[in-house]
Amino acid sequence: MALATRTGYSPIQILLHWLIAALVLFQLVFGESMAEAVEAAEEGRTLDAGDQFMASAHYWVGIAILALVALRLVVRLGTGAPAPIGEGVMVKAATAMHHLFYLLLVAVPVTGLMGFYLGDPWGELHQFSKPVFIVLIVLHAAGALFHAFVLRDETLKRMLVPTKS
Ligand code: HEM
Ligand code: HEM
Repeated sequence: MALATRTGYSPIQILLHWLIAALVLFQLVFGESMAEAVEAAEEGRTLDAGDQFMASAHYWVGIAILALVALRLVVRLGTGAPAPIGEGVMVKAATAMHHLFYLLLVAVPVTGLMGFYLGDPWGELHQFSKPVFIVLIVLHAAGALFHAFVLRDETLKRMLVPTKS
């Protein structure tokens, strides 16, 4: 299949992977300011300047993630991606995890927007994605480090160093 014929990732794919990862971490760490902003609006309280700034950052960083993920999916469909290294159930698990990541990367900003404009249950659903994202990231990063330091294969290296094909 065309998607699995590459041996590595292109420079733009690597850039997008790490940029999106950094922005998602920012959202997970500082998301509470947005929750605080929603609560303050519901209770008619005024928000302090710091929370106001961080809530607005949450909005725009979230939208940037959605746009960058759309670009990433277009690039992935155009250039393809390498199959995970290994065999059997581990490859299936890694592929499933990557698909789940793409699903979350679209669904989480969309439920965020819906929570912002329409309220609950979208806001609640959006908040619930926090632990789901954290568990996935921990498993994914642990997998990457396991490949690098135990299996000693090319998995982590190919997400750091681009290849032409
Ligand atoms: C990948 C992107 C995003 C991630 C990882 C993310 C993550 C989070 C996190 C961790 C919280 C705090 C949850 C808590 O305190 O329990 C939160 C709250 C919130 N986020 Fe996002 N967010 C993203 C994108 C967006 C976008 C694009 C919007 C659009 C406006 C948005 C709107 C909200 C709202 C309204 C809340 C408060 C929900 C409530 O209290 O009902 N988020 N988000
Ligand atoms: C929010 C954080 C992250 C997200 C959303 C994320 C998402 C993804 C996705 C969707 C892929 C599949 C790429 C494709 O085939 O199109 C991928 C691959 C990869 N990620 Fe992450 N990632 C994150 C953080 C990390 C971290 C912290 C590490 C390292 C410790 C890492 C290492 C890798 C590696 C090595 C690959 C390549 C796997 C392979 O080629 O089989 N990622 N990531």
